Amino acid sequence: MKIVIAGGHGKIALRLTRRLAGRGDSVVGIVRNPRHVDDIRRAGGEAVVLDLEHASVDEVAAVLVGADAAVFSAGSGNAATAARRDKMDRGAVVLMMDAAEQAGVRRFLHVSSINVGCADDRGIGEGYAVYLRAKRAAEEHIFARDKLDWTILRPGVLTDGDGDGTVELTAGNKIGPTGARFDQVAREDVAGVLVALIDRPDTAGRIYVVLGGKTPIEKAIDL
Ligand SMILES: NC(=O)c1ccc[n+]([C@@H]2O[C@H](COP(=O)([O-])OP(=O)(O)OC[C@H]3O[C@@H](n4cnc5c(N)ncnc54)[C@H](OP(=O)(O)O)[C@@H]3O)[C@@H](O)[C@H]2O)c1
Repeated sequence: MKIVIAGGHGKIALRLTRRLAGRGDSVVGIVRNPRHVDDIRRAGGEAVVLDLEHASVDEVAAVLVGADAAVFSAGSGNAATAARRDKMDRGAVVLMMDAAEQAGVRRFLHVSSINVGCADDRGIGEGYAVYLRAKRAAEEHIFARDKLDWTILRPGVLTDGDGDGTVELTAGNKIGPTGARFDQVAREDVAGVLVALIDRPDTAGRIYVVLGGKTPIEKAIDL
């Protein structure tokens, strides 16, 4: 399979690249910094340099031609302004979806976030709320797409620890749940779930919250 990952140098994306390349898939990571190209190669993928805040649909679609799946795992990072949050965490997702549709790639996996339903809750800090609103807006764009077989993954707080191949996976409703949670999940296990979702097109139209847990990934998807 050929998989294109937006935000290819991200911490989840590099782990995903290693897993996919390790089993023989062809991986293309979209990065904005040319100095990251060699890291993608070392992980077993190829890199294309494009800034998703400025690239055109045609440019991204050209990367996606022939792909079996697109994965959006880019993000604005911790210290982003509200404007950058909107451009990256919402706008770049729309760009990637438009490009996938243009390139005829139906399968679309989106790394969103736990707590998207809590952006307007009292007690959520303003910086986090802005991030969650951008993620929520991206999800709302995704729900409207009928030319994409999308699956949304909402991870908890990400850690760099070793994964153990087990998670707690909950199929969520469209915007909830309300009540912020800050349970953790290892990026390695999030990457494992993404691989499993790539292999499971029957999860199209579903939204999953993923946290650290005790259920083997394959089994968790079936629950
Ligand atoms: N941190 C958490 O606890 C948490 C929880 C839930 C969900 N998430 C979400 O999970 C996803 C992946 O997380 P992660 O930790 O793997 O993220 P990460 O390591 O911060 O990676 C994000 C990647 O996006 C890239 N990027 C940023 N702006 C870009 C642009 N304009 N064009 C192209 N690429 C761009 C970054 O590139 P540069 O290196 O060049 O900046 C970076 O490689 C993100 O969407 C994040 O919001 C995070």
